[in-house]
Amino acid sequence: MLSFLYLYFVILAKVYFKLMIVLGSTSDISQAFIEKSLKSGDKYHKIYLVTSNQETTEKLARHLYVKYQQECEVIPFDLINDSDFSVFDSVDSELLFCATGYLGKNTEEGLYDIENSKKIIDINYAKLLPLLNYFAEKFEKKASGTIIALSSVAGERGRQSNFMYGSAKAGFTAYLQGLRNYLFHKGVHVLTIIPGFMDTKMTAGLDLPKPVTSTPEKAGNLIYKAYKKKKNSVYVLPIWCLIMLLIRNIPEFIFKKMKM
Ligand SMILES: NC(=O)c1ccc[n+]([C@@H]2O[C@H](COP(=O)([O-])OP(=O)(O)OC[C@H]3O[C@@H](n4cnc5c(N)ncnc54)[C@H](OP(=O)(O)O)[C@@H]3O)[C@@H](O)[C@H]2O)c1
Repeated sequence: MLSFLYLYFVILAKVYFKLMIVLGSTSDISQAFIEKSLKSGDKYHKIYLVTSNQETTEKLARHLYVKYQQECEVIPFDLINDSDFSVFDSVDSELLFCATGYLGKNTEEGLYDIENSKKIIDINYAKLLPLLNYFAEKFEKKASGTIIALSSVAGERGRQSNFMYGSAKAGFTAYLQGLRNYLFHKGVHVLTIIPGFMDTKMTAGLDLPKPVTSTPEKAGNLIYKAYKKKKNSVYVLPIWCLIMLLIRNIPEFIFKKMKM
């Protein structure tokens, strides 16, 4: 009888007291994913919104409370200025959503600018991986949960227009592959999301080709489906799978002459 009650409470806790942690909370894709999850009936005891932009994230937290009565806790953390992970010691979760990323300046001056290069590498890779490892260890200890992280098609072939960002994302994609392989044996799932062009604040002002550009809402829906189906890696628009297959297979002696 006691073991039956224990099992009942464990199942109840898993259904009603789920926790989610979001890195890169002001990303439109993060918001779209959270809203899709709440609209689909998922219940979270609390959502931890980690952010380098506290003011905007407080507004998101209020919005989620008013619209869905969702409790959130905003945790300020800037990857460039903060390195003390003890602020997350009491944070536990079954689902981690990471939309952290930084495109940087890809103008001619920006390409060789040292501060710009450092920031791109730090936010997309060097300072992000230790933070993800910190949480991965927590997931491993519980032997359950899902880590969802956004990389980019830019990581699939280095191009002249964004080779710093692309190289950091290439490293990030490889990291997620390895982490998935490692955590699979510990009962934790890792899902890699590979967006192509996205209509978000990161690309504001850029002239993106409409047919291959997706919206945060569409991305949120697609990511949620992939999460529920326990997919390993998905492109945000399926056409990008074909585009990148072609791009990856252009011989280097031709590719280097192209302007991409
Ligand atoms: N937009 C596209 O076309 C596109 C294409 C391919 C891949 N992606 C990837 O998709 C993800 C989401 O991008 P998005 O389009 O939604 O752009 P975004 O709004 O710029 O999202 C990136 C998020 O990274 C976080 N971030 C930036 N600097 C940070 C710092 N110093 N410390 C901590 N967090 C920081 C920010 O969240 P906080 O303000 O909450 O800290 C920001 O919202 C990124 O990984 C991006 O690389 C985007």
